Amino acid sequence: RPALADLLLSRIRDVPDYPKPGIAFKDITPLLADPEAFTALTDELAAFSLAQGATKVVGLEARGFILAAPVAVRAGMGFVPVRKAGKLPGATLAQAYDLEYGSAEMEIHAEDLSPDDRVLIIDDVLATGGTAEAAIQLIRRTGAQLAGLAVLMELTFLPGRERVTAALGEAPYQALLTV
Ligand code: PRP
Ligand code: MG
Repeated sequence: RPALADLLLSRIRDVPDYPKPGIAFKDITPLLADPEAFTALTDELAAFSLAQGATKVVGLEARGFILAAPVAVRAGMGFVPVRKAGKLPGATLAQAYDLEYGSAEMEIHAEDLSPDDRVLIIDDVLATGGTAEAAIQLIRRTGAQLAGLAVLMELTFLPGRERVTAALGEAPYQALLTV
């Protein structure tokens, strides 16, 4: 395994039985608290953004914001938030997605992206892929191009990868860690 993956993995804490019995939660707060690991993660994702010719970085509320904003600054690109419904004041596009129980909606300010933009979507975790798939659909609806999807961690016991790679088409997918 590459040194970066070792460093990142060493800073992710497994929390047993959270948020409910039988679930092992992947807690990234130790990674965020370690400047060496957080910087290495930011640099890696910024290099990926630049390699894909992205012009904007989109982060998914909430944990995706923490990773995507420093990547945008590092790569010299704008940051555009995809927020949970009802938080953005301007004209939005909305996309529904399924949760374990029920459904939710995410929104974007469409005017923050133009057809000339190439968008890299960043989130912390890919689980079922429902969140990322909805974000991909949302970006397509803005008329901007998709530069790809990058996540810190993919949970491989769920079929999220198939779901997002189908939604991405030609655009690349990168998971820095598979757990
Ligand atoms: C978590 C995680 C991903 C998503 C992955 O977000 O941060 O965004 O779930 O799950 P999926 O692939 O099954 O959609 P969550 O909405 O739980 O909360 P957050 O606001 O803390 O990011
Ligand atoms: Mg999230």
